Amino acid sequence: MIYLLDTANLEQIKRAFNLYPMEGVTTNPTIISKQKGSFINILKEIRSIIGENKMLHAQAISTTCEEIVKEAEYLNGILGENFYIKVPVIPEGIKAMKALKKKGIKITATAVFTAQQALIAANAGADFVAPYVNRIDNISGNGVDVVGQIVELFANGNVNTKILAASFKNAQQVNEVALLGAESVTVNAEIMDKLIDHPLTTWSVDQFVKDFESVYGEGAVAYNAK
Ligand code: E4P
Repeated sequence: MIYLLDTANLEQIKRAFNLYPMEGVTTNPTIISKQKGSFINILKEIRSIIGENKMLHAQAISTTCEEIVKEAEYLNGILGENFYIKVPVIPEGIKAMKALKKKGIKITATAVFTAQQALIAANAGADFVAPYVNRIDNISGNGVDVVGQIVELFANGNVNTKILAASFKNAQQVNEVALLGAESVTVNAEIMDKLIDHPLTTWSVDQFVKDFESVYGEGAVAYNAK
């Protein structure tokens, strides 16, 4: 399973891409609206930070097929080969996915809350489907179960569309969708840190340094320890 970062915050993107094996960035209109500056410039800056080879997913704002396709063509022309237009799974969005597929523009079906929405989007040509795990949990559903259903439906039907699980509140939700076979997740910077953090790892590293220095002196490391 691969990791993407769900943010438009440039500092967070720089830090995460520097530290972790990130494969891309996802944004949505809400995420973009939290940043200052022009919409297209923010996306261009993200592209220049992550490079041409990583995925960049940004959402169309329009709600009619014709306008969604226009937005997608505009963004696709500017943001490079690894650009994915996020299209919500409303009826006009599904229609737009069919049109975008024919034009060779990569698609991420977004605002997915049921397995049937995911399957219809896949049939319409989506490359990824993005189920919103925590938003489902928040209405007393089970987001992880929905991801499991999508995994099952796609496997049963030999569907090539991949799952980009989204909307997480904690590391456990991420681990659960990973175990079910989601190919990718998009998480915010805080959750990305939490996925690697463990108090016993921190304690163990501190202890290793302390024990080594007790024999080889303060600041000793592999290349200067005598
Ligand atoms: C996914 O495509 C969305 O951008 C995002 O993950 C939604 O997350 P939220 O429910 O935390 O806003």
